[in-house]
Order: sequence, then structure tokens, then C-alpha cells
Amino acid sequence: MTKRRVAILISGRGSNMAALIQAANAPDFPAEIVLVMSNIAGAGGLESARAAGIETATIESKPFGRDREAFERAMQDELLKHKIDLVCLAGFLRLLTPWFVQQWDGRMINIHPALLPSYRGLHTHERALADGVKIHGATVHFVIPDVDAGPIIVQGAVTVHDNDTAETLGARVLQVEHRIYPQALRMVASGQASIHGGVCKSTTATASEKTLISPSF
Ligand code: GAR
Repeated sequence: MTKRRVAILISGRGSNMAALIQAANAPDFPAEIVLVMSNIAGAGGLESARAAGIETATIESKPFGRDREAFERAMQDELLKHKIDLVCLAGFLRLLTPWFVQQWDGRMINIHPALLPSYRGLHTHERALADGVKIHGATVHFVIPDVDAGPIIVQGAVTVHDNDTAETLGARVLQVEHRIYPQALRMVASGQASIHGGVCKSTTATASEKTLISPSF
């Protein structure tokens, strides 16, 4: 099995990155993490990537100011240098231009802390609580030029408790993120997930028949 070469792009602590690195340690995992790249110098995740023996790169976005494409060209050079096949965005907090997204069309995935298409954007847990939704969760999707949109690969849901705060709810959603992101990467890297008519279908994964009802009765 030829493993797909993956770069993870981060801006912060990198807990999803760590979950991907750990999953990719399994011999049968169809991808290897060869590069972790950050747009923020000193992002916490860089240290843990290095500790796991993974090469890191920092390309700060700030010096490029409003020239987003110049920043992305620098990232692209680094990705090509490492012969990257797939890009995983894991808490990478920069908007990407259509040019960059096009370079990685069908080969770049992102995790978002909400059940898309609900709650695109920031402060997803606060907004879910304010709306009083009873089920919330996380989504891994292919990246398209629109932000927090694109064919959905995997979703994971949690029940919302009456006494939840954004922190307690976010912590439960994060645990789900750490389960679904490795699974989504496995599906994409192995070719089990692909886009047909704008939506993602998977060949081998079977949907669980479990029903999640909240509040339960
Ligand atoms: C994660 O919760 C991820 O879903 C979110 O940022 C966090 C990064 O945490 N991403 C977004 O909000 C993107 N729209 P991590 O650095 O510990 O993985």
C-alpha cells in the first residue's frame, strides 16, 4: 500500500492534528503525516508535532498583510517541496483564496465544530446554545472556495445538556472531532470517499442505524 502524503495546517494547539498523527501511526492507515505547517510562530501544535518526529514549517501570514495569495504561494512551495498529496486543515484560522483552494480541489479537507450547514463561522457552540438546539456536533468536509462549506465526509453528533456552557459543550464536541477526523482522512486517503454531483459518497462505510434523540424519552 502506498500511503498518501499528508500535510496538516494549524494555527493553534493542534489537538485534532495530534489525533491525526496518532491514527496515522497504525500500520494499516492509508496516509502518513509528513508535514505540519503553521501560519503562527510558536503555535502549540508545532511542539507536539516535533515531539512526534514530524517535520514542521512556519510561514507567518502576518508579514504578507493583505496579499493573501503571496502568503499562499509560499505555503504552496512548501507543500510541493514535500510532495504532498492531501492537505488537512486542523484549526487553521486563515481564509483561503479561490486560487489556493483550486490547487487542492478534492484533496483538501477541514474540520468544523458544528453540524454543517448549520453554524458556519465562529462561536459555533455559543450560537448553538443560544438557539437551544438539542443536538450539536462536528463535520469533516472537502474544502471549496465558500467558507465552512463543501461536500460532507463525516459528521459526529452529541446531545446538548440544559446546563451546558460553551466550554462543556465544546469539550464534548472536541472528543467527537478527534474520532471523526482520522476516520474521514482514512476514507479520503483510501479512495473510499469521493465527490459525486457536489456531495460526498462513501463506498464501504455503512451508516450506523442508531438514532440519537435528545432529550431522550
Ligand atoms: C477545533 O475545534 C476545530 O474544529 C476548529 O478549531 C479548533 C482547533 O482545535 N476549527 C474551526 O473552527 C474552523 N472553522 P485544535 O487546534 O485543538 O485542533
